[in-house]
Amino acid sequence: MKRWVHRTAGLLPTAFLLLLLILAGAQPGAASEKSFLDEVKAVNTPFDNRSVAQVLPVTQPTVLAKEDYQGGSFRVLARKQEIERFKCSSCHTDKEVRGKNALELTHGNVVVQHGREGNALSCIDCHHPEDRDALEDKKGRKIDFDHSYQLCGQCHFRQKRDWVGGAHGKRVENWAGDRVVYNCTTCHDPHSPKFEKRFPVIYAVPLN
Ligand code: HEC
Ligand code: HEC
Ligand code: HEC
Ligand code: HEC
Repeated sequence: MKRWVHRTAGLLPTAFLLLLLILAGAQPGAASEKSFLDEVKAVNTPFDNRSVAQVLPVTQPTVLAKEDYQGGSFRVLARKQEIERFKCSSCHTDKEVRGKNALELTHGNVVVQHGREGNALSCIDCHHPEDRDALEDKKGRKIDFDHSYQLCGQCHFRQKRDWVGGAHGKRVENWAGDRVVYNCTTCHDPHSPKFEKRFPVIYAVPLN
């Protein structure tokens, strides 16, 4: 007990000096500093969340969406570069195709499982009947493959509304900078859009 007192007594003056130094150092700084909120206000008046500088640019090809988002614009991942058989007009010319099994050979892997039971959608519900390089809306107007959300949105208007607002689908990469979102067909196969049921990858052990 005695020895302990003896040792700490030697340390006390040093500790007191240190405390003085720290206090002296902290005092002048604190007085002159602006509050953090003042600084934020000075930079952003009025605050515009779209003015945040881009952190990392999205590297995939994108197009400007033909939709409004909170009074501004946003971008969508482009699709054409992903479509294996694009450009379709490299085969679909004015000339008639005659070969045997031509359809089977070229589009055998396109199986449509989309629509109501026993009433599946047909190719020309979505594809333009003459210009194969384009999709077609219900009024016969062309839709670009990069803007296929316009096609889907005619029938699935609720999901499209949610998608525009960010409640369905996914944003690419960043929360700051340009808003870029996945296209409907980045996730859904238009010919068979329903996802297969899957078992969870990780088994959760029961808690007890
Ligand atoms: C390698 C050649 C080739 C390419 C590339 C190609 N097609 Fe075809 N397509 C054919 C042939 C052959 C047929 C069958 C004959 C016909 O209808 O002209 C066909 C038929 C079709 C049909 C009608 C199917 C039916 O049941 O009547 C659609 C729709 C179609 N193609 C869409 C497309 C689209 C969209 C693309 C581009 C993404 C594309 N094709 C690219 C060769 C091709
Ligand atoms: C629900 C609308 C819809 C229907 C029905 C539909 N398609 Fe498509 N199809 C699309 C869209 C959208 C794309 C582009 C997909 C993408 O962005 O990757 C596409 C892509 C294709 C492609 C190119 C695929 C590739 O990667 O090369 C071919 C070929 C094609 N369709 C043929 C057909 C044929 C033939 C039928 C009828 C048997 C048909 N489609 C029915 C919407 C549809
Ligand atoms: C012409 C109208 C029409 C178009 C265009 C269309 N769909 Fe569909 N889709 C339907 C119908 C009808 C069903 C069946 C709905 C049902 O059974 O309740 C369906 C079903 C679906 C389903 C499965 C829903 C479920 O819960 O089973 C998905 C996902 C889907 N569509 C996505 C898409 C996407 C993505 C596109 C654009 C590439 C698209 N659809 C274009 C009419 C359409
Ligand atoms: C990031 C991927 C992704 C994107 C982008 C996306 N979806 Fe989906 N979608 C899903 C998933 C996941 C489900 C749920 C599937 C399930 O429960 O089996 C789904 C479900 C659906 C359904 C079934 C009904 C429902 O609401 O559950 C429809 C219809 C649909 N999507 C249409 C669309 C349309 C139209 C677009 C574009 C405007 C789109 N999706 C964009 C992933 C996506």
